[in-house]
Amino acid sequence: MSYTPELMELMKKVEETRPSRVGVNYPRMTPDERRDVLRNFHPDYIEDGFRELKVGVDKGARLTNEMADVFEAYSRLKDVDIDLTAEPDYDVDILIIGGGGAGASAALEAHSAGANVMISTKLRFGDANTMMAQGGIQAADKENDSPAIHYLDVMGGGRLENVPELARALVMDAPLVIKWLEDMGTMFDKKEDGTMITIHGGGTSRKRMHAARDYTGAEIMRTLRDEVLNKGIKVVEFSAAVEIILDDKGSAAGAVLYNLETDQYEVARAKTVIIATGGSGRLHYRGFPTSNHYGATADGLVMGYRAGAKTIYADSIQYHPTGGAYPPQLLGLLVTEKTRGLGATPLNIKGEQFVYHLETRDVASSAIIRECEERGLGVPLPTGITAVWLDSPLIDLIHGEGTIERQLPAMLRQFQRFDVDIRKVPMLIYPTLHYQNGGLLIDENGLSSVNNLYVAGEASGGMHGTNRLMGNSLLDIIVFGRRAGRHAAVVIKDLEVPVGLNLEHLNSYHKELEETGAADGRIGPMLLPRYTHR
Ligand code: FUM
Repeated sequence: MSYTPELMELMKKVEETRPSRVGVNYPRMTPDERRDVLRNFHPDYIEDGFRELKVGVDKGARLTNEMADVFEAYSRLKDVDIDLTAEPDYDVDILIIGGGGAGASAALEAHSAGANVMISTKLRFGDANTMMAQGGIQAADKENDSPAIHYLDVMGGGRLENVPELARALVMDAPLVIKWLEDMGTMFDKKEDGTMITIHGGGTSRKRMHAARDYTGAEIMRTLRDEVLNKGIKVVEFSAAVEIILDDKGSAAGAVLYNLETDQYEVARAKTVIIATGGSGRLHYRGFPTSNHYGATADGLVMGYRAGAKTIYADSIQYHPTGGAYPPQLLGLLVTEKTRGLGATPLNIKGEQFVYHLETRDVASSAIIRECEERGLGVPLPTGITAVWLDSPLIDLIHGEGTIERQLPAMLRQFQRFDVDIRKVPMLIYPTLHYQNGGLLIDENGLSSVNNLYVAGEASGGMHGTNRLMGNSLLDIIVFGRRAGRHAAVVIKDLEVPVGLNLEHLNSYHKELEETGAADGRIGPMLLPRYTHR
């Protein structure tokens, strides 16, 4: 399906204004303008999308309705008898829940420190948002840059709401992470002289985005997965953790796994547990389409919260400015920020730019929503929604012919499948639900507020404040995955095999649900999104 004749007609405006835009930067917003556009158009500020949580350690906190629904739910084990006195099905030092980049990084560090590690994962090893990440990973490893400058960008992007110690850990480890990945075989883009090619992302003051074309996450996950398998680390697939098990002291001591193939529950006992289950994009906040993988249903947050782990900024959601809007098969799929990093600009129906192309994601998304909803300057699509143009042909004009083919091969193919050649015609985009800025609160070692329970990756929060910058998620999964794995491997040396395994926290949680009438019959964690009508 190519663009319709009506869209081709509208596109002429973009072609008319294009020559005047080459090499010209649209002005950035002032702080007041940024604040206004956020307050008026960012979905995080639309109060009817939120409610007060009625149960658990953060009772009274503000949460999206969708996240509150999964928190205020009965356990899948409510009417299931799990014998925790019997010999467990698995018995390890460290149980890692989640087979994405954070889980794999934690496993590698813990294994190399001598721990007996197991990864359990809901789907296949590598089915995770890591695999779908496109544009790059940030690290200040060039002469004109430093972790201190990276830190300022992280804090600025995060509206200064970041936990400083976590933001510090993120940027300080970043150069080491790039080296670690490269040493294991990640093929980052390089110039002929061997130096890394780095570009800008939204909100960066230095070019520090390292990439492998526009499939950076897939390349990183390939490396990590190969390494885990080569080291012989045990990976149990299609085994979704459904509850954290505690011991007689209230410390994490394993998890109940649900085997999706046999429909049976299994018990994994462990001295420490690392939750690395990823985010919650498949909750489709406010009905937004999502760039997230199928399993992103907030499972780790739900389990961790029931076990007593505190959250931070769990109500802060990231809408990526450039989700695919047309052709309809691409609705919500990621159009990487690298496209804007290389110079593509957002344009309204008149072919006019209305926002600086590298504003931070929260601001850029809000400006696009305003252009379509308030100003009525969106491009009407045959599907009934409106969108804006993203002028991709500018990229080859700025950097020379062949740049899109070399730097954005995945994007090129993604649109070519529908007869849209992004070298010649602009893309049609609208914000898509991309990331959960907050999550379970951790310290610099990835430790949550529950003893021996670690969290890494998108399930955790704090380092990004309330708005993450591009390329800091591929970074955080590895920084905090490695830190959690390393710390857990030290801690287990002083721990005995846990005793008094129990799920008593579920009883008190259920009691609270009943007393407040909050649950409404819902069961969680969700595990898989449901797209059919009942
Ligand atoms: O736009 C992107 O390529 C996404 C990157 C990220 O979320 O870090």
